[in-house]
Amino acid sequence: MRVSLENIPAAKIEAQALVTYVFEPEIEQEKASKGSLGGVLAEMDRAAGGAIAKLAASGELTGKMLEMTLLHFVPGIAAERLLLVGAGKRESFGSAELRKVAASAIRFLKSRSVKRLAFLAREPESAAGAEAITEGLLLGNFDGDKHRTEKKPAPIESVSLVGFGAGAQAGVDRGIVIAGAQNLTRELGNEPSNLMTPPILADQAAAVARAAGLTVDVLDEKRIAELKMGAILSVAQGSAVPPRVIVITYNPPNPKPGAPVLGLVGKAVTFDTGGISIKPANDMEKMKFDMAGGAAMLGVMQALATLKPAIKVIAVIPSAENMPGGRAQKPGDVQVAMSGKSIEVINTDAEGRLLLADGIAYAKQLGATHLVDAATLTGAVVVALGSVNTGVFGTDKAFTDRVLASAQTAGEKMWQLPLDEEYRDLIKSTIADIQNVGGRWGGAITAAWFLREFTGDTPWVHLDIAGTAWLDDPKPWMGKGGTGVAVRTLIDLAMNFETK
Ligand code: BES
Ligand code: MN
Ligand code: ZN
Repeated sequence: MRVSLENIPAAKIEAQALVTYVFEPEIEQEKASKGSLGGVLAEMDRAAGGAIAKLAASGELTGKMLEMTLLHFVPGIAAERLLLVGAGKRESFGSAELRKVAASAIRFLKSRSVKRLAFLAREPESAAGAEAITEGLLLGNFDGDKHRTEKKPAPIESVSLVGFGAGAQAGVDRGIVIAGAQNLTRELGNEPSNLMTPPILADQAAAVARAAGLTVDVLDEKRIAELKMGAILSVAQGSAVPPRVIVITYNPPNPKPGAPVLGLVGKAVTFDTGGISIKPANDMEKMKFDMAGGAAMLGVMQALATLKPAIKVIAVIPSAENMPGGRAQKPGDVQVAMSGKSIEVINTDAEGRLLLADGIAYAKQLGATHLVDAATLTGAVVVALGSVNTGVFGTDKAFTDRVLASAQTAGEKMWQLPLDEEYRDLIKSTIADIQNVGGRWGGAITAAWFLREFTGDTPWVHLDIAGTAWLDDPKPWMGKGGTGVAVRTLIDLAMNFETK
């Protein structure tokens, strides 16, 4: 889809649809005292012979968040349709809402076979607003229907942005890069496991990295064994397909000596059957998205190659398939991780933390001074936070706050959960250094504690995206499937990292 800034009076734009948004209070005010519409809305209303004011007076148009009012062939407006999207209250309207408005509008029009539309900004939006709108448009236009021969509905071809201010082009450019990265992550998450094995993921990641001008190193099973990544190997041993560890590095143009190095570790289980501790059949097909954390890190790296942050960033993506089988690891087996720690594998379905244990150790060995991991790690985090918030855990308050601030900026909901020392007792093993599951309660926390055992003193933040990386029921602003969660947050984190 093409997104371009246009300098044409809104009423004169010849598009299949012209989109703008209306606030609740301005509609209420108009209803109460006629003639109080302002700004571009007043201009549109005048061009349309008072149609908007009449709708407000009738009570049909309210401006409630994401209310859709579609008008056809409005006299005085060149576009074939005028779509008024409710924007809610002004005080709770920010870039997250702007992104949602744009995404919902495009999905609404897409389902009505519109191909070319124009989006009219209410304020002369500069970079940040243009970025949010561009992201919303591109994210909304994406549907995970790669394998359907007939795309229904077909994607929108072009959007003209109208009424934007100075500096908007930079925002549009950034939005294209960031949404492109998030959609790449979504696409990978949607891919079925027969078409997305660890070697295939590694090949695709290498292709993405090379095309972006990033350094890439793919560790195959031989090198994984040489590095003594026993935890990764233990997950992979039950599968006919071998594991991979994908390492992608971004080097800043002017590296400062002693500057921080951000390590991004993403869980990439291309299918999680649970292994010998096998999962029930219901919903098991969803476990193709158990590589969403790894896919997010790949998306982030693709964007960073263009956006060029000031710090070095290393992504480590351990990838394996978790299968039962004659060679699979069994409950009670003891494995030795790369760090030298021995792990009693009580439950083979707690495989993500095993991959991450070695992924974290390797990122540290490669020089990461700060670590963030993203993983569809536990069902327990979904019990705690549902599909609204990503679970956040951290050992360093300043760094954790930084990540939470980036999440806020990026419009991704995240909520911090505790890591008190008391929870550590739950993963004590009687025969090894540590065991891979705690008890029944606090499962997201004991999983995070397991990871913490491998981070040492390195400031680390863990994002449990099990509830947020997949959308079961489509939303007005996003189709069903992979969401690409964490991509925008981590791009913001890298771009605004203190280099001191
Ligand atoms: N990939 C799953 C977690 C998951 C569950 C992600 C639901 C998305 C939706 C993970 O590997 C897993 O199986 N975790 C177990 C851990 C348990 C055995 C301690 C879980 O949460 O049930
Ligand atoms: Mn599992
Ligand atoms: Zn898993």
